[in-house]
Amino acid sequence: MTPVSNLVRILVGSVLALVLISGSAANAGTVLRVADTQPADYPTVVALQHMAERIADATEGELTLKIYPARQLGEEKDTILATMFGAIDINRVSSAPLGTMVPELQILGLPYLFDSEVHFYRVLDSDIGQEILDFLEPHGLIGLGYLTAGARSFYSTRPIRSPADLKGLKVRVQNTELYLDMVRYLGGNATPMSFGQVYESLVTGVIDAAENNWPSYVSTRHLEAAPYFTLDKHTMVPEIIMMSKSRWQRLSVAQQNIVKSATREAELLMRRLWEGRVASAQQAAAQAGVEVIDDIDFGEFADRVAPLYAPFEREPTHATLLKRIRDIGDS
Ligand code: GCU
Repeated sequence: MTPVSNLVRILVGSVLALVLISGSAANAGTVLRVADTQPADYPTVVALQHMAERIADATEGELTLKIYPARQLGEEKDTILATMFGAIDINRVSSAPLGTMVPELQILGLPYLFDSEVHFYRVLDSDIGQEILDFLEPHGLIGLGYLTAGARSFYSTRPIRSPADLKGLKVRVQNTELYLDMVRYLGGNATPMSFGQVYESLVTGVIDAAENNWPSYVSTRHLEAAPYFTLDKHTMVPEIIMMSKSRWQRLSVAQQNIVKSATREAELLMRRLWEGRVASAQQAAAQAGVEVIDDIDFGEFADRVAPLYAPFEREPTHATLLKRIRDIGDS
């Protein structure tokens, strides 16, 4: 079944379910539908499975999670909408496509913002992390927590050793103005596209390059078509675990607390899994003959993309947020 027809089936199913249970207060045996674009063995999905076990145990089976990995429920732009409308209950997505609704999330994804992984985790664990998640609520979404996605770098069919090498390259980015501009400032031709289309587009030459973290580069087999990986580490874009607000409101306070603490456990498990997954992806890439380009001048990349900060620095509340993030630092 195609992701779209699957989505239609779920939408229809959830409308029917709503009709059937309306008027009844019963939460017993509720199954929450969970979406993820990554494959079943990917750390985000493993973290969701852990969350599912915790929730099932703590509610004695009253709440269970049914996880649909590998884009079974569609690409992120579709599943985000389905979560807003309550057809999907919990969704693990990259924060990038949510940035068009919540500019504060884009701030977290600005290039070269974080000094290190320590800085990144400190910010997410601080009040700032929760304040930013709260901005999702007016859109019908409850931000439950963040998962790491490490650093994103460019990979290409031709070596990229400096921004000059991006000239003329068609580079896939996540579908947000921020990343279209990022690639434009670096001199490339930015091409927005869904995650699931990237492999074929690289193979057929529709695009020449893309950007992501090590585990995604390998799990998607993008390495087969784009064997040059430039470790420029331009962004650290967090993943979000979020819930449909309409479903959240139908949980008891005790159930909500269980969901929250299970999410926290998933966050911490993901941090433990991530390093190992990066190492095994790097090993797989080396075996496949990928050339890693790591002798690059980060300053050259950072200078080109610096203008992306200007609109945020001009907006007083965003500027304050940026200052608070920088002040946290990593030492
Ligand atoms: C990461 C992230 C995915 C996202 C993808 C993308 O791999 O885990 O959720 O879809 O980036 O580039 O679109």
